Amino acid sequence: METAMRQRGGREKNAGHDAVSTRQPAPSGMVYHHRTKIIVLLLLLLAVLARVFLWGGRVAEDPPPSLSWWQTTIIYQIYPRSYQDSDGDGVGDIRGIIQRLDYIRSLNVRAIWLSPIFRSPMRDFGYDISNYTDIDPTFGNLEDFDNLISAAHDRGIKVILDFVPNHSSDLHPWFQLSRQGVAPYKDYYVWTSPGEPPNNWLSLFRGPAWTLDSVRGELYYHAFMVQQPDLNWRCAQLVEEMNNVLRFWMSRGVDGFRVDAIQNMFETENLSLNEPPSGDPDVEKDSWYSLRHDYTFDLPEIGGAVRRWRDVLNEYEALDGKARYLVVETLFDNDVSIRNQYYDYGADMPFNFDLLRVNRSCGGHCIQHYVNRELGHLSQGQWPNFVVGNHDNPRVASKMGKDFVNAVNMLLLTLPGTPTTYYGEELGMSDVHVSFDQGQDLQAKGQGEEYFRKYSRDASRTPMQWNEGKHGGFTSGCVPWLPVSQTSSYENVESQTVSSQSSPLNLYRKLAVLRNEPCFQYGGLEYGVVNDNIFSYIRSTPAGESYLVTINFGHDVSIDNFADALNGVRLGEITLTTGNLKSGKYHVGDKMDLYQLELYPGEGLVIKLR
Ligand code: NOJ
Ligand code: MG
Repeated sequence: METAMRQRGGREKNAGHDAVSTRQPAPSGMVYHHRTKIIVLLLLLLAVLARVFLWGGRVAEDPPPSLSWWQTTIIYQIYPRSYQDSDGDGVGDIRGIIQRLDYIRSLNVRAIWLSPIFRSPMRDFGYDISNYTDIDPTFGNLEDFDNLISAAHDRGIKVILDFVPNHSSDLHPWFQLSRQGVAPYKDYYVWTSPGEPPNNWLSLFRGPAWTLDSVRGELYYHAFMVQQPDLNWRCAQLVEEMNNVLRFWMSRGVDGFRVDAIQNMFETENLSLNEPPSGDPDVEKDSWYSLRHDYTFDLPEIGGAVRRWRDVLNEYEALDGKARYLVVETLFDNDVSIRNQYYDYGADMPFNFDLLRVNRSCGGHCIQHYVNRELGHLSQGQWPNFVVGNHDNPRVASKMGKDFVNAVNMLLLTLPGTPTTYYGEELGMSDVHVSFDQGQDLQAKGQGEEYFRKYSRDASRTPMQWNEGKHGGFTSGCVPWLPVSQTSSYENVESQTVSSQSSPLNLYRKLAVLRNEPCFQYGGLEYGVVNDNIFSYIRSTPAGESYLVTINFGHDVSIDNFADALNGVRLGEITLTTGNLKSGKYHVGDKMDLYQLELYPGEGLVIKLR
């Protein structure tokens, strides 16, 4: 969301940060850098002797570690409203997803994460839940859901659900009873006595975070919309109630959860404390970014909550020996140790949104900075992950440009750790212009046209582009809930499947297969040539194969000597190329002289070294 707000707001903040970061030395980790070259070479030698290898300062063993399913798959995020409509009402649904499971398998994806499908008045499209243990009729019913689980599992695809613990809908029966002061629900939310707000706390969606409730005559706290009252995690009954929500879905076969807005889960108990100004001169007075969130964000109490969920997941793991996955949404992490503490709390990973924030001003050094922000800061046992898009942020083609879609997918799928792909990114779908009248994102639309233009998230939530037919094959109905991109006539799954080798979809599929190689699954990473244009790295296992991945993220053609960075290795064979436009001179299977590799902006190669 931060990125949505900041990038759609047209501010150049990130660009500025990126530019600065390119000049800074990478913070830590095994960076292939002139200054440290000799030390690195010695360490590498030692590592080889000890039959261990490195990425980002971490050591993996040979023979290979035993990896869990969530460490070997791509996670594919589906926004259910927009994936496939099966009943012609213009909104995607569970049966639609079932129809597309074979497509998902064809991507070599083995896990899907569904944004919320639970009962909801849809003020925030399911991130406002009115019944945590039922399916919203828009999407189907529990029987459809059970069918989805078995159809997915039949195909070897795991299912991850969104878990929204910070807030419910104001129409949830718990909130209705809480308003009336009925026990135990009266304590399920964060209330304070009537009168003025007790403090200056602000909503992430702008304006005061306190709203007066006419029935109870008290104010309630909401970190997000007025219709999303925050749940009170200091209330023991609520904690157990939510544990039972996790149990409910795991009993139906769910394999894991993505936890929404985890950093907002606790507020300090002393409500008289005002949050200090952030000092950011670029933001409006009532913007959440105008404050520092000492009392409402990342409170240490969250640790206990995550540990309890992990215990609940373990109950199910103990039954069948199958790992249950827990990933938490960490939106803001100025200090990388903030997001990494969620590993210690018991999450398998906190989402790493660093690459989601990059734009065209981020060249080779800058990409390295962000990659190293992850790889250089993990401790033993902490598994890396990278995310390049989601339902709150602009699409890659729109923030980086169409020419960089293949480059970004090449990066995402060849880095260490678990990659998360937002539906449609495998095609390089672009943001779609959604007018104020067509707009659906109420947190933005409710604040007027100008605000909507800056902060609406509709543009990246438009329907999946399946074929050249009406509404891109998304719905047989008359009106899709958001407009389908006009490019769907030529930019769709069908056309990209039959097109030449170089369509984003075909490349994505090949990269996803290549990821199965041990060196990409768990192998080491060393940086190769890195400059303002090029970001490159070598993935390898000690006894097995070794690949060079090199991508031009800059603005200029770059001709570089890779042989030096590879200790004199002169020859390699091209395994994959981004293929799109560019120099046009590289083909799969070509033997390459690594002394002089020329790459155009947006062009990337995977080269087999041994
Ligand atoms: C983060 C979700 O990704 C976003 O879509 C939602 O609006 C907020 N959390 C509130 O649930
Ligand atoms: Mg439908």
